Amino acid sequence: MNVKIAPSMLSADFCNLEADILNMIESGADYLHIDIMDGTFVPNISFGPMVFESLRKKTDVIFDVHMMVENPERYIDLVADAGADIITVHLEATSHIHRALQQIKSLGKKAGVVINPGTSVENLKAVLDLADLVLIMTVNPGFGGQQFIESTMEKVAQLKAWRDEYNYSYEIEVDGGVNNETYKQCIKAGADVLVSGSYLFNSENRKKAIEELKTV
Ligand code: DX5
Ligand code: ZN
Repeated sequence: MNVKIAPSMLSADFCNLEADILNMIESGADYLHIDIMDGTFVPNISFGPMVFESLRKKTDVIFDVHMMVENPERYIDLVADAGADIITVHLEATSHIHRALQQIKSLGKKAGVVINPGTSVENLKAVLDLADLVLIMTVNPGFGGQQFIESTMEKVAQLKAWRDEYNYSYEIEVDGGVNNETYKQCIKAGADVLVSGSYLFNSENRKKAIEELKTV
């Protein structure tokens, strides 16, 4: 299976958002990764659904929404209405992760679950049958441009082993510090989707950079 590339909008030029995003999509992006931060779950605030709702009118690319929001249940309907295709919520942000994933699926959207570097992959076991996507954070969430944490690769490998063993159907995604030096270990460990923000948006030749991240 070919690896998919999900450029993270957090590193886009917000003065020129439409052109910058459409250029990245034309360069070969499979998903557009959209980071919503609430200033509580993570120490940063990004933007809300209004922003990608306007982009929804401009492109059919898959919107992969990463909610770094405390009690994400409060916003799932809004995010779905704004045009998300995949909605991913943090295990650490809710007491009811199972219910949150059910809520996403009941809206006809793909449901993703994500864990921070400090959270054990074992904690995901009870919801893996519900997940369409499992995101392993390879940095502590909140900012682009941070350094990749290699020890997270064990979790990716474990998720791949469980998927084979139990016939689960989730995609495995990694997010944070993914660039031309770190991507190979992600693919080797079993990642299907690579999120990359600062590396791709700062690349002079985006098409080439996306192609390179797919080359094993
Ligand atoms: C971090 C976000 C990421 C971020 C990745 O909290 O979830 O999606 O944009 O950026 P890079 O690729 O620059 O680490
Ligand atoms: Zn993200």
